[in-house]
Amino acid sequence: MASALEEPLNLAPVTEGQHGTIGANGTSSSTNSQYDPNFTDNVIKATGPKANKRLAQLMPSLVRHLHDFCRENEVTVEEWSQSVEFLNECGRMSDDKRNEGQLFWDILGVESLVDEITYKVAADSGEKPTTTAILGPFWRPNAPIYPMGSSTILKDQGGDVTHMHGSVTDFTTGKPITNAEIDIWHTAPNGLYEQQDPEQPDMNLRGRFYTPDSGDYDFYCLRPTPYPIPFDGPAGKFLKLLDRHPMRPAHIHFIISAKGYKPVVTQIFDRRDEWLGNDSVFAVKDSLVVDFAPKQGDEKAGFDLKYDFKLVAVEDAKNGVHGGTEVTSA
Ligand code: BEZ
Ligand code: FE
Repeated sequence: MASALEEPLNLAPVTEGQHGTIGANGTSSSTNSQYDPNFTDNVIKATGPKANKRLAQLMPSLVRHLHDFCRENEVTVEEWSQSVEFLNECGRMSDDKRNEGQLFWDILGVESLVDEITYKVAADSGEKPTTTAILGPFWRPNAPIYPMGSSTILKDQGGDVTHMHGSVTDFTTGKPITNAEIDIWHTAPNGLYEQQDPEQPDMNLRGRFYTPDSGDYDFYCLRPTPYPIPFDGPAGKFLKLLDRHPMRPAHIHFIISAKGYKPVVTQIFDRRDEWLGNDSVFAVKDSLVVDFAPKQGDEKAGFDLKYDFKLVAVEDAKNGVHGGTEVTSA
């Protein structure tokens, strides 16, 4: 059986008369009556009284949107079959090193959207806690724990070594946070994460650091490189069909967590990057764009980057101070 999207879909614009006139609600007015008006309600009513509560809340809306989408666009059995095969291909391609399902949602902006929904900024706060950004599919648990001042670079593959430093503080009080965990990961200069690249040592360019009483941190990493998200699978084929590129602007990922605080999953982006305004997964936010400065007098690093992380205490979050997200700028 031909795999999904091997043959491009016929995506020629629908012309009037071909599928009837498009009505105000997007349904085809000339064909409104050809569909069973009770069909969607019947599907929704099939949910039983012991259904999972959140699912029972979500599914009527999902079913309505999906059914309306199919009716409005007159989706054919052939097109639907391609969508089934596409999802199956995503599953077949996924394992502990590859997450094609997540990649698909990412190129549609859904991970970035739910990040924004989950971590709303208090509308009236001028100063903001550290803004969140998507996790992406390449985080790994149990990265090595290093003492402050050490490097996450396990193999020299070139690139600009950077001394990154700053503080982790309580957003509301400004006080330092002790024992905050800074979990960092990024690609090598070839644009690959270590789990994608047999040439890199296990856990290369990943590490966890714990802040002392001062809340300050420092370590060595690389100035990041722009790279394409994996495009050799169904998500890549989909991008191609949409005439889109797979590039992500250069970024470093972080999870900052501490007892009593809301964890922050985020990324910082290099201001000089040409893809900053055109991220294939829509994750760039203005406050996460940083400047790498040339560094003198450090034989280990040619660049310096200062960045302060501000976390919201769980108690403060209950009182209306929210973790920081902001509208994506790309
Ligand atoms: C990443 O930044 O690692 C990433 C995020 C979304 C999709 C693919 C990769
Ligand atoms: Fe990444």
